[in-house]
Amino acid sequence: MTVLIKNGRIVTAADDYNADIFIGGETVSLIGRNLEIDADHVIDATGKLVIPGGVDPHTHLEMPFGGTTTSDTFETGTRAAAFGGTTTIVDFAIQTKGTSTLEALDSWHGKAAGRTAIDYGFHMVITDMPEERLPEMRRLSDEGVTSYKLFMAYPGVLLSDDGTIFRAMRKAGEDGTLVCMHAENGIVIDELVKIALSEGHIEPKYHALTRPTRLEAEGAHRALAIAEVARAPVYLVHLSCFDALEQLRMAQARGVMAHAETCPQYLLLDVDCYDEPGFDGAKYVLTPPLREKWNQAELWGGLRTSALDVISTDHCPFCMRDQKALGRDDFSQIPNGGPGVENRMSLIYHRGVNHGNISLNRFVELTSTSPAKIFGLFPKKGTIAVGSDADIVVFDPDREETISLHNPHTHHMNIDYNAYEGTKVRGFTETVLSRGRVIIDKGNYLGRPGDGAFVKRGPYGGLHASSRAAATSIALSTSGRLGAPGAHR
Ligand code: URP
Ligand code: ZN
Ligand code: ZN
Repeated sequence: MTVLIKNGRIVTAADDYNADIFIGGETVSLIGRNLEIDADHVIDATGKLVIPGGVDPHTHLEMPFGGTTTSDTFETGTRAAAFGGTTTIVDFAIQTKGTSTLEALDSWHGKAAGRTAIDYGFHMVITDMPEERLPEMRRLSDEGVTSYKLFMAYPGVLLSDDGTIFRAMRKAGEDGTLVCMHAENGIVIDELVKIALSEGHIEPKYHALTRPTRLEAEGAHRALAIAEVARAPVYLVHLSCFDALEQLRMAQARGVMAHAETCPQYLLLDVDCYDEPGFDGAKYVLTPPLREKWNQAELWGGLRTSALDVISTDHCPFCMRDQKALGRDDFSQIPNGGPGVENRMSLIYHRGVNHGNISLNRFVELTSTSPAKIFGLFPKKGTIAVGSDADIVVFDPDREETISLHNPHTHHMNIDYNAYEGTKVRGFTETVLSRGRVIIDKGNYLGRPGDGAFVKRGPYGGLHASSRAAATSIALSTSGRLGAPGAHR
């Protein structure tokens, strides 16, 4: 199958020019002006943007959590992602405490293999990592799982203590892999939850009132400090607020290899959503919670100045009808998470580029190139270049849609609400190619479950290899601080 995309405006993180793209199989073969080549399929992209397929490095499909399982399967979630212009996801496999992470990886391969519409990778959620298990981390990276997530929240379920975090970070630093951190002080949060419930506060808004920004900032500070002492990179997931951003900036200024993502929910939605009538605030019970609106301008600022590297979704869908309802009488029993994998590209294009918050190149960088680089997918994914996978989106910058559960163009996710209901966007995915195959054509899905393949990811790519090697040795020092005299040889 050969494809020729004609007359498009090709936009990558670095470039912006008009040219044609010829795809001779799964990868881009040729880019040039006025290409006269016969192809099985010709796409006229006149007036359209031609951008690399989105890379969403934070999704939870078919994930057991909060007494239930996320409502999108690998089939439905990846198909919805494709409709929205995302062509690669990195989802989370979860280690069961006391068992091997490699068993968890097998189990997640079993869920996804043969079912996805787009390519996918896995991070490994580590729930315990005693010394004797550490070699597993190297084996995971040999299997193409080159990042891990650890939690400072959810005591008794997912929380790792600081010793485990340090061990995992140190090993990741040695192996050239990356620890992602859920940075919230879950132990203090649990105390606040007990107090709220004992005072009879059961409504969804108490989810936000028991998870203050200071406790996210404390987690961020701790994660960054431990990474600094471990001489390892760290990636803060779902950073939601100014207080945590401030910690990130300070660490970056000290030279810590610190990355972070934020998500559309923190850029577009705010704490007032919890005041929706009845139990509707439960739609927004996700973690960290939605914040006061003024944080949004700070987050856009962080994205512009590159303190923040990535916009992922943390797509973690639970239906209102029978899943969020588990917490009708107790907000702490509402499964934490919300949807978004399908709507990210349009939401961020509209609120980012159209509203003047970020440039067009930065939009591509934040939604595709930068996650591909950090998570070892680049240049296979995350750009349009000769030899890269032909994961390409033809994006109509003028098409207007109103995002809604009831709009057949904007909602294919398997969930009974849309967190962005009624949001108007200008800029919409029209055609999607995944490794050279047209899987979305003018709103029609042409693919099949199993088109997508597991991608073995390479090492952490946030640094050049030479600096990564320099980052691996730990020297004992009084401050532990990077750059302190005698601290780093
Ligand atoms: O509310 C969320 N984010 N649920 C998913 C688990 C996590 O912490 O990412
Ligand atoms: Zn998390
Ligand atoms: Zn998550």
